[in-house]
Amino acid sequence: MAKQMVFRFLFSWITIFYFFSVDAQIKSISNKVDSVLSLMSIDEKVGQLNQYSGDWDEAIGPITKDGDKQNQIKKGLVGAMLNVKGVAHAKQLQLMAMQSRLKIPLLFGQDVIHGYKTTFPIPLAEAASWDLEAIELSARIAATEAAASGVQWTFAPMVDIARDPRWGRVMEGAGEDTYLGSLIAKARVKGFQGKGLGNMDAVMACAKHYAAYGAAIGGRDYNSVDMSDRTLWEVYLPPFKAALDAGATTFMTSFNDLNGIPATGNKYLLRTILKGKWNFKGFVVSDWGAVGEMINHGFVKNNTEAALAAIYAGCDMDMESRSYKNHLSQLVKEGKLPIAFVDEAVKRILTKKFELGLFDNPFKFFDELREKNELNNVEHAKAARDIARKSIVLLKNENQLLPLSPSLKSIAVIGPLAKEVKQNLGFWSIEWPNDSSYITSQWQGISNKISRNTKLLYAKGAGITDTSRAGFAEAILTAKQADVVIITVGEARDMSGEAKSRSNIHLPGVQEELIKAVAAIGKPIIVIISAGRPLIFNWTTDHIPAILYTWWLGSEAGNAIADVIFGDYNPSGKLPMSFPMAEGQIPIYYNHFNTGRPANNDSDRFYRSAYIDLSIYPKYEFGYGLSYTTFNYSNLQLSKQKIKKDETITVSFNITNTGKYAGEEVAQLYLRDKFASVVRPVKELKNFRKILLQPGETKTIHFIIDKEKLSFYNAQMKWGTEPGEFDIMVGTSSKKILLQKSFTLIQ
Ligand code: NOJ
Repeated sequence: MAKQMVFRFLFSWITIFYFFSVDAQIKSISNKVDSVLSLMSIDEKVGQLNQYSGDWDEAIGPITKDGDKQNQIKKGLVGAMLNVKGVAHAKQLQLMAMQSRLKIPLLFGQDVIHGYKTTFPIPLAEAASWDLEAIELSARIAATEAAASGVQWTFAPMVDIARDPRWGRVMEGAGEDTYLGSLIAKARVKGFQGKGLGNMDAVMACAKHYAAYGAAIGGRDYNSVDMSDRTLWEVYLPPFKAALDAGATTFMTSFNDLNGIPATGNKYLLRTILKGKWNFKGFVVSDWGAVGEMINHGFVKNNTEAALAAIYAGCDMDMESRSYKNHLSQLVKEGKLPIAFVDEAVKRILTKKFELGLFDNPFKFFDELREKNELNNVEHAKAARDIARKSIVLLKNENQLLPLSPSLKSIAVIGPLAKEVKQNLGFWSIEWPNDSSYITSQWQGISNKISRNTKLLYAKGAGITDTSRAGFAEAILTAKQADVVIITVGEARDMSGEAKSRSNIHLPGVQEELIKAVAAIGKPIIVIISAGRPLIFNWTTDHIPAILYTWWLGSEAGNAIADVIFGDYNPSGKLPMSFPMAEGQIPIYYNHFNTGRPANNDSDRFYRSAYIDLSIYPKYEFGYGLSYTTFNYSNLQLSKQKIKKDETITVSFNITNTGKYAGEEVAQLYLRDKFASVVRPVKELKNFRKILLQPGETKTIHFIIDKEKLSFYNAQMKWGTEPGEFDIMVGTSSKKILLQKSFTLIQ
């Protein structure tokens, strides 16, 4: 007892001391910022709000060769750079910044989206792992490598909810679900920022693209967004709020207009919500050229108006449009813009530079030896392999064709992706033009696993986008000589990503025909699909016994895929997005409303919310994914039948591993508010747990439902609960609900 009291006493003093010291630190930075600001000319202030890209050099990566930019840096007219790769180059530019009158250090940003040198799975793939710790670690390692390479700021995480797989940028996010997306946003921010700015391995995170970019109409990149306030607040904003709560230091505006107002000039988004209601203290950067693009939107007439609209709205830094640099000073001088708007933006940016420690030592991140060591760290590759295998989703495994024995007599590996190396990295990976030794191809991964006596055969069959079937004969001949055939197909790495919207999301080229042609010979076939988005491959699903969806897995792709094929890892991934049967079903997402004429099955086609020529179901639903083992769910218990608003309810159930392999299951809890003053989704993910079970083992899972999980925005857009009945659904996917009960919220 006494010990406890001493502990509590100490703890409270430590807490008080901590808050005092943090408070003192904030105050002292704020004083320093004010004193720098007081020395700055208006042009120097505007310079801090100006960000340029390095010029790309094929051989050595991006560096600014442009003499004009260099002169501007020397005059203190540039606040930040992006796309400057490597310590040597960044240092050169920082030295130029040190020639400026006030020697304000530059900030170096980069799109470190899924790894720096060690390339992790694309973010959508990582989301399929449902493993928050692994996702955080991936971001942590990316930050460590990037920081060692002179980067202090990553333009990630991308936290846009995406319900349309035609949109190429689904590869950068966490998929369609707000709850999962919010947890992943948090994990990524924590990973990037580590123990906080100022540490040598922390980079600033940037929650993007604010806001609602994922809802671009028709899935066409950069398109307009037209959205109700309810959908904005309930579906699209929460991951941004989660990123902010996790400490995200910067936000990036999106390219789209939201209900007619471009996000970069959107006061409601930036001032009212982000800097007002949410009290965001970091700074906002525009997306590339987005300030100037408001002219194309038809929102402003010229760059002067663009600059004015953006700074008024609350966009602090202009990435590459030069509207701020060319017009803000003049606007202030002419009395059209109060200097306070510029000062506020400058303060926000300088604060981060102080927090990063750049004023103490502008060169602190430029240590070439450290850079070399961090970029060749074998521990990083191990972590990349671990999350890569966790990201793989087993879509089908008839008659337990997988896992394969490594001592089969012969295996044929067929398809355009078998021997590809760089393709495995996916979009938004950093280029290392003269080095691919750190990337494992699928062929290599499989070769490393098989026994000495196993014959490995290869045929390409076709290219990714080929229309020619010339290679089919060789593929068939090769398959005939093998006991088992692996066909590896998918998208090229540049078919998903920015500006990569596709109206046709079927397997590209003649790849599905190749699968058909090889399948005709009757050998057992495993299909591996690598892609940046959900694809459509119905024939394959209906006829091929085993399918692995591997997304783009990064530098350890080959090893991770081989681990799964040969059973060294039992697949545990679950889809973070619905896979449509046809493009005509899009947008298709699990948490839709019921409508007045719901379609409950496929025979319900008339006078129902459904197409007469398409199923109501996706091909694979959100949350779907198989394992080499099987799981049984049982004994759902609710701690209470009725609860009051401030009470909680505990949901418990058992999961048993009923198969012969140890395996991980992602148990999912969905909730439905059956009747409310505004209609509610048919189900919403409210919790999940990924657990490892040995064969025969049973574990009990407990989830707590509280007020927050039952709340929504009512007709007046007020957040809260309403009394009534709720369904609790527990299952292995959003469709495969295995246990269900109801409870009532009273008062
Ligand atoms: C445009 C993209 O939309 C954004 O995500 C990225 O961070 C910037 N370009 C910088 O490369």
